[in-house]
Amino acid sequence: MSHVPYARILFIGPGLGRGASAERLQQRITALLGEAHLHDTEQDGFWQAIAAAPRPLLVVDLEPRADAAHRDWLRERIAERGDGAGVFVVCAALEDAWLDGLAALLERCEAHLPCSDVPPVPAHHAWSQIPPHAQRLLLCNGPRCTRKGALGLWKTLRQRLKAAGKLECEGGVHITRSQCQFPCDLGPTASLYPQGEWYGIRDEAAVIRLVDERLVAGRALPELRIDEPGNN
Ligand code: FES
Repeated sequence: MSHVPYARILFIGPGLGRGASAERLQQRITALLGEAHLHDTEQDGFWQAIAAAPRPLLVVDLEPRADAAHRDWLRERIAERGDGAGVFVVCAALEDAWLDGLAALLERCEAHLPCSDVPPVPAHHAWSQIPPHAQRLLLCNGPRCTRKGALGLWKTLRQRLKAAGKLECEGGVHITRSQCQFPCDLGPTASLYPQGEWYGIRDEAAVIRLVDERLVAGRALPELRIDEPGNN
């Protein structure tokens, strides 16, 4: 890898500071480059890490949901902070980089895009707008709700809403995975805003009812409410 023309290669992404996958990635990068510089984007200090790194710098963003728009957004943010000279960005889902593609990705310099002279990201892109959703549903993915099946319920919730044409669109429902919402024993817990309703989503059938009856048809669903007297 000696012909990769960077003074530093910085890998960024969620969770890179902890856990078995982060350790394996660190070993893999060290074996390839002789050193590993990782920054967990769920921790503070990202901009300091960019500013302090020697140039030329390649930032490899392992954000799993990164796409071209995300990559250009990041380039623009680095450029507007005045840190863009000599900095290049490439995005790769962790799985791709992790398996066989890492060396090839680092050597493919034409895919590393500069953070200087970044074409402006259109001001009307979705990240500059207040979204037109009518409701927001927070499904708890905290430590106790996940042990009661909340991750599987999240997938069903997303698929069912999408199939109904109500996922994150005008008049639809924005869904978010939250940390602990506190009534763990009554969950998996979901809360719906702006109504301020609380639901206990105990299984797949319940999440389907929540979508079909409450979020799509707009009917009250008192049987699943955990904030109704006598329901818990
Ligand atoms: S872990 Fe879900 S409400 Fe506490």
